[in-house]
Order: sequence, then structure tokens, then C-alpha cells
Amino acid sequence: MFTVNLLKFKILLMSLTLCFLFLPALEAAWAKECPQDRQTQKAPPTYLSKKNPLREEPRFIKKGKVLSHIKAKPIACKQCHGMSGEGNGAMAFNMNPKPRNFKCKATMSEIPDGQLFWIIKNGSKGTPMPSYKHLSDEKIWQLIHYIRSLPKSIS
Ligand code: HEC
Repeated sequence: MFTVNLLKFKILLMSLTLCFLFLPALEAAWAKECPQDRQTQKAPPTYLSKKNPLREEPRFIKKGKVLSHIKAKPIACKQCHGMSGEGNGAMAFNMNPKPRNFKCKATMSEIPDGQLFWIIKNGSKGTPMPSYKHLSDEKIWQLIHYIRSLPKSIS
């Protein structure tokens, strides 16, 4: 009896290990474009001129990361934008247009803070990018600090 249970436990453990090994590989499997084709609608001038009021401090970047990975409702950003922000999350497979690749410096350096803010708040119409209207402005700026930190990070 005990040995059978132990065997089941070992099989379960092996399956779990396999899942953890293959999920990141699967994420990496679909193409990460850089520079990325971008047809996103331009924010109104009042938004475009907005600057991040929060200082670029590690605590804000960290809060943005937690929002992106876990807390943002109804869907965490990482489901589409990926664990490391490369636009290759689990839901991004076959998505058109593709989620923005935040790690791509060539594309991201062309987009002003106010544009990122407007899209996060209102979504990108006609694309799968949802609106996060219910998030406070402060939380959106934390997300932007996290997004901006990505092209600078190594992994
Ligand atoms: C269901 C999938 C999905 C989720 C969830 C999602 N996004 Fe997106 N996101 C997209 C897609 C698709 C695009 C590309 C839209 C386009 O091309 O206009 C995009 C584009 C963007 C852009 C680029 C705006 C620009 O002007 O280029 C930003 C910034 C962004 N998302 C931030 C976020 C943040 C922050 C979250 C979480 C709070 C999030 N997204 C959640 C799919 C998603």
C-alpha cells in the first residue's frame, strides 16, 4: 500500500517538474519581434505630454512587477506580455496584433510615458489589450516604471 502511494507521489513529482521545465521553454518558443510592428492609436495630446510623477525608485519598479505578474485584475499583464515582458505570455500564442515586447528598446524608446499611460487606462481598441480603468493613476505609473526597467535588465 505504502509503496504504491510512494510511486504515485513520485510520478506526480516528476510531472510537476516536467511542467516547470517546459513552460518557460514554451513561452520562449514563439517569436519575439524587435523592432516590433506597431499600429497602436496615438493618445490625445493631453495624455502624450504626461510624465511619470513617481521617482524611478526600486520600490516602485517592484510594485509594478507584482501588479504585472499577479495583482492586475481581471487578467495579469504577464498572461499576454510574458514573465519577462517580451510579449510572449501564455495567452499571446497566435494573438494578432502581438502584445508589446517591453524588452525591445528600439520600439519602447519611441513611445512616450503618456502614451503607455493612456493605453493601460483605456486599452487599445480593436486589439486584445484590455482597459485597466479601475487601477489608480499611481498603480499605472508603477507599472510604467516596471515596463521601463525591462529593456535595461539582462534577463
Ligand atoms: C489579453 C492580453 C493582454 C493583457 C492581459 C495585457 N495586454 Fe497590454 N497589450 C496587449 C496587446 C495585444 C497589445 C498590442 C496592442 C496594439 O498593437 O495596439 C498590448 C499593448 C500594450 C502596451 C503598448 C501601448 C503602445 O502604445 O504601444 C502597453 C503599455 C501595455 N500593453 C501594457 C499592459 C499592462 C500594464 C497590462 C496589465 C495591467 C497589460 N498590458 C495587459 C495584450 C494584453
